[in-house]
Amino acid sequence: MNEQPGGPYPDLPYPDLMDRVVNLAKRRGFIFPSAEIYGGFRSTYDYGPLGVLMLRNVKDAWWRAMVQLRDDVVGIDAAILSSPKIWEASGHLANFTDPLVDCRHCHERWRADKIEGSCPNCGSTDLTEPRAFNLMFKTYAGPVEEDATVAYLRPETAQGMFVNFMNVLTTTRKKPPFGIAQVGKSFRNEITPQNFVFRTREFEQMEMEYFVPPDEADTWFHYWLDERMAWYLGLGIPEGKLRLRHHEADELSHYSAGTADVEFHFPWGWDELEGIANRTDFDLKAHAEHSGERLEYFDQASGERYVPYVIEPAAGATRTMMAFLLAAYDEDEIGGERRTVLHLDPRLAPYQAAVLPLSKNDALVPLSREVLGLLQPVAVCDFDVTQSIGRRYRRQDEVGTPYCVTVDFESLEDRAVTVRDRDTTEQVRVPIDRVAEELAGRLRR
Ligand code: GAP
Repeated sequence: MNEQPGGPYPDLPYPDLMDRVVNLAKRRGFIFPSAEIYGGFRSTYDYGPLGVLMLRNVKDAWWRAMVQLRDDVVGIDAAILSSPKIWEASGHLANFTDPLVDCRHCHERWRADKIEGSCPNCGSTDLTEPRAFNLMFKTYAGPVEEDATVAYLRPETAQGMFVNFMNVLTTTRKKPPFGIAQVGKSFRNEITPQNFVFRTREFEQMEMEYFVPPDEADTWFHYWLDERMAWYLGLGIPEGKLRLRHHEADELSHYSAGTADVEFHFPWGWDELEGIANRTDFDLKAHAEHSGERLEYFDQASGERYVPYVIEPAAGATRTMMAFLLAAYDEDEIGGERRTVLHLDPRLAPYQAAVLPLSKNDALVPLSREVLGLLQPVAVCDFDVTQSIGRRYRRQDEVGTPYCVTVDFESLEDRAVTVRDRDTTEQVRVPIDRVAEELAGRLRR
């Protein structure tokens, strides 16, 4: 985490951007603090009606790029509750720890590597010696709480791919280079969850393990660095807010021969969105050793047998959604009126279109519903009849809806509607029987 000279967001007039986005997220139903009626619960969050749409779009965009548009990557969905044997083999039981210190004065707890010798709460330098704190959530499978029933909530989705390596290899007949992708929840008992959904104890990951011949690992590592940077840029993160940072040797995880982070310029400075690592053959070898199973690839053509190396692009879905919100947030003036607008890529916006009858008039609403029915198969739509049309445009701009489709009194005569563009506010008239095609065309990339 490094501060940029000039402070965060020197080019934006919102020093309080984070507050504005958190506020908007709550006010408009993207993200709510969890258990709010009971005073909240330890940095956990619930995704509301718009948040669930947007988060799904982030994950779908990732899946489309990483699985659907390729013929060398397949998906899985592994169990969240998992055997301690997995975490023993992967090294998580021994190594997945953060250094924890207590302040003897105010009794707050901190990650020793994130503070500089004094308590950020009270300033005291009377801190305990750091001790290793394992971040995995432990639970018991079944009614008896004893050593034999210990299970862990997975702290990463990655191990699901390694332990299923042979299952996937034999059922799909893929051969290296090929990948296994997974999107799902992970859990870490973070000492200091912070910055809204940037670091939480329950979060979603989008990870892919790409198995390659060992001598091709470096080439594929660089290939995935380029692919992943292009994914964020293609979905609207501006170039100036995205960078790649290669890890120093002393920063590397226990399994890594090389890692680079995709970093986003958050309001507090540059911080990680995704880690891309060359995990070597560490995981497959570790699981082979602990399970006694052979986890290798046998090339029948050449008679060669080897343990593939793994290149892993590992992203956070919830964290990435937050970055897309921060990057999209803007306030501008339209016709002398201020508005808040999310310039979200249409593929990420919760709604791709909103159908708005000009008024609640008895004749307009049925026609508007007919238009809604035509659009729903091609776009996720909102339907809003209350308040002035200007106010409704503002409400849609604020949640990033790229197109508003307005049904007015003329529509009853000419069977045409007005399509308004969120970013330019330009309006064009489109016949009702062509509006679905028009919208599908605009949304197709
Ligand atoms: N399998 C490798 C792995 O899990 P990681 O860097 O620990 O690597 C990958 O996690 C990504 O998951 C991070 O870049 C981040 O986007 C997301 N992530 C990790 N911990 C998180 C947390 N506590 N809250 C939200 N997202 C998190």
